Amino acid sequence: MTVAEPRALFIDHAGVLGGAELSLLDVATAFGARAEVVLLTDGPFRMALEARGVAVSVVPLGALQQVKKSTRLPSPAALADTVRVARRVAKHASTHTVLCANSQKAFVVAVAAGLIAGRPVVWHLRDILAPPHFSRTNITAAVTLANLRAARIIANSRATADAFIAAGGRESLVRVVHNGIDPAPFDAIDDLAAVATRRQLGVPPRAYLVAMFGRFHEWKGQQVLLDALAKVPDVHALIVGAPLFGEEAFDSALKAQATRLGLHGRVHFLGFRADVPLLMRTADVIVHASVYPEPFGRVIVEGMLAGRPVIAARAGGVIEIVIDGDTGVLVTPGDSSALAQAIEALRADPAGAAAMAERGRAHARHGFSLQAMVRGVSDALAGLD
Ligand code: UDP
Ligand code: GLC
Repeated sequence: MTVAEPRALFIDHAGVLGGAELSLLDVATAFGARAEVVLLTDGPFRMALEARGVAVSVVPLGALQQVKKSTRLPSPAALADTVRVARRVAKHASTHTVLCANSQKAFVVAVAAGLIAGRPVVWHLRDILAPPHFSRTNITAAVTLANLRAARIIANSRATADAFIAAGGRESLVRVVHNGIDPAPFDAIDDLAAVATRRQLGVPPRAYLVAMFGRFHEWKGQQVLLDALAKVPDVHALIVGAPLFGEEAFDSALKAQATRLGLHGRVHFLGFRADVPLLMRTADVIVHASVYPEPFGRVIVEGMLAGRPVIAARAGGVIEIVIDGDTGVLVTPGDSSALAQAIEALRADPAGAAAMAERGRAHARHGFSLQAMVRGVSDALAGLD
């Protein structure tokens, strides 16, 4: 490490373990003593950072907590809260060269804290700033603030960068740094453990098993997989994940849909799990089915690292990860018939599916390494003052 390496104060509004948080977990771990993290909500993310030895503290949000992606304008109470939280965050900034926001809410706080502390602010942008993900008002406010105050934007894909620029964001601010994933936990899974896990989950030994991983949200498309399963009568599915940001109504709707479609016994809802590599190895196919453009999609790279063929929805950052028919299969977002056909095609051609999975694995190892991500983030945070 040279003296030019940045010392970063990372800020994230979430306490739960979404993909943005798992990605920051790896970056902050690699930064070691050069990183400190401030969370605006307490939760399992804090514990995960502590377990990795990362310096972390919690500065809880008050009224700003209530501001949603669809909110038209923040209330005066939310603005006052931003200043209160920013003052506390700024106190942590004195030993750091740069503030790096890991979410949109965190960016608003980081801008205010950066002004107080006299430090540059970078936004690690992990969202596609376009409807229907965000309201027009929200996008305009975020992009205007970014153009005025961000020293740099790190985009998690070309698609994320393009949406920022299309919304009026300054192109010169943007660097694309894809997520990188450590292959070691995937390499460590032994096949006997995967077979035993399948049995414990109540999946018949010979059943064809697809698996989907992700927080429960309408745009992640769990409902599309359920519709596809109704069209492939003997296929089983693991649906892994939970509502992380208050989507309990969607959770109930999904379970009702599974009952309505008569999928009982074939769909296994496992909730949020910390053993994703093992679960991926128990499955024959990994499915990604987001119905809006996915900014990146870590689960796709993870499926590849698990050595499983991946079917993914053709939109957003996904097309930067999967070459259709070569390193995976792409289907039209929201098209459950196309998804069912893709599952059937892989089942009908086990040798072809295995060869595709092998190409996917090699592609993921080389194209999406943890080292490249950490280097990309570190470079983007350097030389700003
Ligand atoms: N994940 C997990 N446990 C679960 C479901 C998902 O650890 O039960 C992880 C998954 O392995 C991936 C991340 O959550 O690393 C989801 O990231 P992705 O980029 O796919 O989507 P996001 O939730 O960030 O939109
Ligand atoms: C966000 C995006 C997801 C991406 C992750 C990590 O949560 O929704 O697509 O993979 O960030 O950058």
